[in-house]
Order: sequence, then C-alpha cells, then structure tokens
Amino acid sequence: MVIIQRVVLNSRPGKNGVPVAENFRMEEVTCPDIITEGQVKVRTLYLSVDPYMRSRMNEDTGRDYFIPWQLSEVVDGGGIGVVDYSKYANLSTGDIVGFFNWPWQTKAILDGKLLQKLDPQLVDGHLSHFLGAAGITGLTSLLGIKDKGHVIPGANQTMVVSGAAGACGSLAGQIGRLEGCSRVVGICGTDEKCSIFVSEMGFDAAINYKKENVSEQLHKLCPTGVDVYFDNVGGDISDAVVSQMNSNSHIILCGQISQYNKDVPFPPPLPPAVEEIRKARNITRERFLVLNYMDKQAASILQLCHWIKEGKLKVGTESIHFSYRWGKSIVILNK
Ligand SMILES: NC(=O)c1ccc[n+]([C@@H]2O[C@H](COP(=O)([O-])OP(=O)(O)OC[C@H]3O[C@@H](n4cnc5c(N)ncnc54)[C@H](OP(=O)(O)O)[C@@H]3O)[C@@H](O)[C@H]2O)c1
Repeated sequence: MVIIQRVVLNSRPGKNGVPVAENFRMEEVTCPDIITEGQVKVRTLYLSVDPYMRSRMNEDTGRDYFIPWQLSEVVDGGGIGVVDYSKYANLSTGDIVGFFNWPWQTKAILDGKLLQKLDPQLVDGHLSHFLGAAGITGLTSLLGIKDKGHVIPGANQTMVVSGAAGACGSLAGQIGRLEGCSRVVGICGTDEKCSIFVSEMGFDAAINYKKENVSEQLHKLCPTGVDVYFDNVGGDISDAVVSQMNSNSHIILCGQISQYNKDVPFPPPLPPAVEEIRKARNITRERFLVLNYMDKQAASILQLCHWIKEGKLKVGTESIHFSYRWGKSIVILNK
C-alpha cells in the first residue's frame, strides 16, 4: 500500500453561495499496490480547474451532462497523468494519458479503457496544453466559432469576446481572427489583461469592464456594430453587447460564468428588453455544448496543435493555485 494525497468535497457552498477554500479538504489515504486485469496505475501530472465545476458543488448540477460531487468523496475533472504500471493491453508504463473524470489525487488506479492515450509530440512536450489549447478548452473555442459563429472570411465582421482573459476567451479571440473576423475586441477585468490582449494576442482593442462603461466603449471600439459575440459570462456585460449587435448576427453561447453562483436555469433567459432586441434583429443564441462534437475532436485537435506550433495561437501562462495572468488555470502535481 502507498500513501496518496487527495482532495475531497468538504461542504457545499449552497446554490446561491460563493465557494470558499473550506468547501474542500485535503486528506491522505492508502492506494492498493495490486491492480486487476484492465486497470492501470497512474501518477497525476495536471488537473484542470474549470467554471463548470461550480455546478458540481451543488446537490443538483441543474444539467443532465454533469453529476454532482459527493460530500467526503474525491472530486474529479479533466486531468493528465503518466502510466506507472498497466494491466490494460493498449497502455504501457510511461504512456501519457488523459481522462475527463480524473480524480484529484496524486496517484490512482483507473479503468484503462476509459483513458485516452496522448501523443506528447503533438504539443512539443507541453503536456498541459492537452487540458487547454489542445484539449476541451481549445475545442470549445474552435468548434463554438465554427458551428455557431457564422464567420465569413472577407465579410468585415467584428467579434466581441467576454471573459476574454480566460482559457476559452483568450483562444476564441485569436481563433476568430484566424477564421476571418476583421476586428476582435475583448472584455476582461484588469488593465494588465487588456494590454496583453492587444500586445501579445492580436486583439484590436480591449475593455476593462470593472473600470469602463462597457456600452460606451463598445460603441467606440465597434463602429460597424457587433457581428459575432463569443459569450463566456452572461449578465450585464452580455446585455450591453447584445444591444449593439447587428441584424442577423450570432451569439456563441459558450458559458454564463457571472451567473454560476446563482440558482438560475442554464442558459439564463435574457432580460425582456434585451430579448426583444435579440428577436427584432434576428440574432441567434443557440445552446452550444462541446461534448456534442466529439466526432470532430481528432481533426480539430490537429488544427489547434498546428496553429500553436506555427505561433499563430498564443497559449496563456499556466500556473498553480489560481493566480494566473490569462489563459488556462491548472494545478500541477508530481512534477
Ligand atoms: N459550452 C461548452 O461546451 C463549454 C466548454 C468549456 C467551457 N465553457 C464555459 O466557458 C466559460 C469560460 O470558461 P473558461 O474555462 O475559459 O474559464 P476561466 O479560464 O476560468 O476564465 C473565465 C474568465 O471569466 C472572467 N470572469 C469571472 N467571473 C466573471 C464575472 N462575474 N463577470 C465577468 N467576467 C468574469 C474572468 O476574467 P476577469 O477576472 O478578467 O473578469 C476569467 O478570466 C465558462 O462559462 C464555462 O462554463 C463552456
């Protein structure tokens, strides 16, 4: 038996509560040495920290595609690790593997057939990219834009991205440009992030929603209106953007992060006055869930890796314990 560390759900914040560190607890448990046929023993390398996890802290996630975390049980999410020992024919010691329900523990015994074998060469050895730009995050940005954005190269379209400093948002703005938008404007919460968008990621302009009047700034920075809106946050910011969208334009309904500490349905309806604008201008706002596009996963990952290698897609700084400038939030273990 070996001693491992793991993170369990200690308490629930309540549907309308703000999560605190005390909602989680670290503990040490033993992990058996012996594994059975079909199993692999893995060492955890990276764990993804994502907004959807807020709903898993509730007794009922309100979504049919996520199950709640249970009290005093280990929490799980996207993760990457290395195989220490395998009794599954398709995996060997040293293989790098990923799983959408990776337990937050330093080592684990997992069912080999659930794991996805990953090729480190695809990301030049930057394995954490498989949780970010070359994983679900990158797929969300790319497939959301491709399927719901209706971007037409050469059509002089303006894209606005909210939550632009986040994992999906920082990629979405760059991909919007690569797919053919002629102007990309990001919305985020600090001047530092605003300046990074413009100087490092090729956004044309950025708005600090904590300091500036979003409607006024949009009016100034999007002189021909908004054609594509990649919405990560919902709430007041989205109401301001939708009000400045053009006729027959498109919202990519990626997420509604400003609403996740509230007991509201997903997606939350727009306020009546904004909904009226949306309808009058024939603005589409269809649900988008990346998990429904897994048939496009392999080709899209290749495209994303290609862009990263070419330097066309800048990937955010990764760091530990939620203190990041922009990009993906990842916990690093066993390194
Ligand atoms: N549809 C899908 O299939 C799918 C898949 C993956 C993710 N998502 C969704 O995509 C969204 C973004 O995910 P992510 O992984 O990119 O998240 P993330 O890396 O945690 O970034 C989220 C960003 O949102 C901003 N933010 C946080 N609270 C906010 C608020 N109250 N108002 C305005 N901005 C706020 C933060 O930036 P500032 O500090 O600058 O405000 C942060 O950079 C989430 O809503 C998530 O649920 C959807």
